[in-house]
Amino acid sequence: MSSIVAYLLGSVSSSYLLGRTLAGVDIRNHGSGNAGATNTLRILGWRIAVFVLFIDILKGVFAIAFAHLITGGNEVALAFAGFFAIVGHNWPVYFGFRGGKGVATTIGVLLTLYAAPALYAGLIAIALLLLFRYVSVASLTFVALTPIFQWIMHGNAAVILISFAIAIMTFIRHRTNIARLRSGQEHRLFSRTS
Ligand code: G3P
Repeated sequence: MSSIVAYLLGSVSSSYLLGRTLAGVDIRNHGSGNAGATNTLRILGWRIAVFVLFIDILKGVFAIAFAHLITGGNEVALAFAGFFAIVGHNWPVYFGFRGGKGVATTIGVLLTLYAAPALYAGLIAIALLLLFRYVSVASLTFVALTPIFQWIMHGNAAVILISFAIAIMTFIRHRTNIARLRSGQEHRLFSRTS
């Protein structure tokens, strides 16, 4: 039940909806084609991008908060709800299953499930972002390191497994970014060609 609600909540594509209503564009037909905060920044500017980032993070937080409410805090149910909120973001039922890469919603999910490991991974990811200006590198670093830190810090086994599954899903969603990184053609944040 909470996973279904999480999926339906995750499916609310803020970049698509704000792009359509505020700028009259389908974000999925521009830039990288991704329905997410980075592509919104690239195409529609930072004001709308900040809203998209904020809403997409909140989707992860609310999905887990709702699961907490109806399961009384069962960690397996919370982790599954988080996972399905990200699935909804990536493959939204309302928008032809064409969504984003899940990173903002993943931030909300991983911070809410177990804050400290996600925070440490996030700090390393932000440092890499400031150094290299590749959002994809920062995103992949964040999702890869979080389950490792959860394991080092003796997190709940279900949370670690789901976080690992989220990392695999995120790498699959970033395969075009990984190909561009390998060929030296990945977009850098704030560059003229970004
Ligand atoms: O979170 C998505 C980011 O890692 C890459 O987005 O638009 O550059 O493919 P984009």
